[in-house]
Amino acid sequence: MNQLSDCLRLLADDNRLRILHLLEHEPLTVAELQDILQLSQSSVSSHLGKLKRAGFLYDVAEGSAHRYRLREDIGEPARACWLAVRQLSGSNPAIADDRRRLAELRSATRASWVERVAGHLHREYAPGRTWEALGHAFLAALDLGDCLDVGAGDGAMMELLLGSCRSLTCVDPAAAMVAAGKRRIAEGKLQGAEFIQASAEDMQLAPQRFDSVLFLQSLQYIADPQAALARALELLRPKGRLICLTLSSHDYPEAERYGHRHPGFQRQQLLDWVQGRGQARCLTLAPEAKPPRFTPLLLTVTC
Ligand SMILES: C[S@@+](CC[C@H](N)C(=O)[O-])C[C@H]1O[C@@H](n2cnc3c(N)ncnc32)[C@H](O)[C@@H]1O
Repeated sequence: MNQLSDCLRLLADDNRLRILHLLEHEPLTVAELQDILQLSQSSVSSHLGKLKRAGFLYDVAEGSAHRYRLREDIGEPARACWLAVRQLSGSNPAIADDRRRLAELRSATRASWVERVAGHLHREYAPGRTWEALGHAFLAALDLGDCLDVGAGDGAMMELLLGSCRSLTCVDPAAAMVAAGKRRIAEGKLQGAEFIQASAEDMQLAPQRFDSVLFLQSLQYIADPQAALARALELLRPKGRLICLTLSSHDYPEAERYGHRHPGFQRQQLLDWVQGRGQARCLTLAPEAKPPRFTPLLLTVTC
């Protein structure tokens, strides 16, 4: 009986009811609730505290703010009280006004974010705009034809690449990597992929067999990277493409932990190695965000 009367007393307050109706619509911070309800911060916080202690809400930290959400598992009798009061108060004009102000707040936030990031959107976080997602999007538009992946490791990229290839030949000298790659093919029932154990400098494959050759962060592992690039170019058909992602030269000892043989490469060094073999470009890409901030290099050659 005590619990029931406590609950009814808690819900017999217009502002707390307005808060519950708003949070049922979407999770909100104290500042957002203040804006919509036109109440002081202490008043909003006090109402939220009471509702939280009674088990109606929970909050999640978001930077320096907290976002409040209605619990899906409100216990009894609180749930039954809320459902009854919600129905009785749903047509109250104050509730509709709050919803309208929430919509206005959202539209102002959207507009101000768009205006704020104009000109430096590339540096800003935008939900879902991950490099992996962009990679998938660009690969969907790419035709790699018969593709050779040199230093393919255990084939972690295989499933991503297969959607854009007619066939995929993965080469790696490490027996453990090749065994893991073959398991990946068998377990995923991947069609059109094969693994070959070989070194890049010594790939026993027919010349001009491939439309594309990839080196995805493998060049820095290869004992003779110049010979590996030369061999790869011999395996390309006319108009074929070599795409090599590696690292820019650095002096970070951390690279040894990953088994690198070379501390990255100079842009010009890579261009010199492939000179006369087609149209070559080498781009220095943005450094990693994480220290020591390795910087990727992208070499492309079109035969
Ligand atoms: C960081 S892993 C890259 C794996 C893969 N490309 C990826 O992006 O997930 C580097 C790979 O290069 C391979 N590697 C080392 N020496 C090589 C060589 N001479 N020829 C080809 N690959 C080599 C290693 O065995 C290792 O699997």
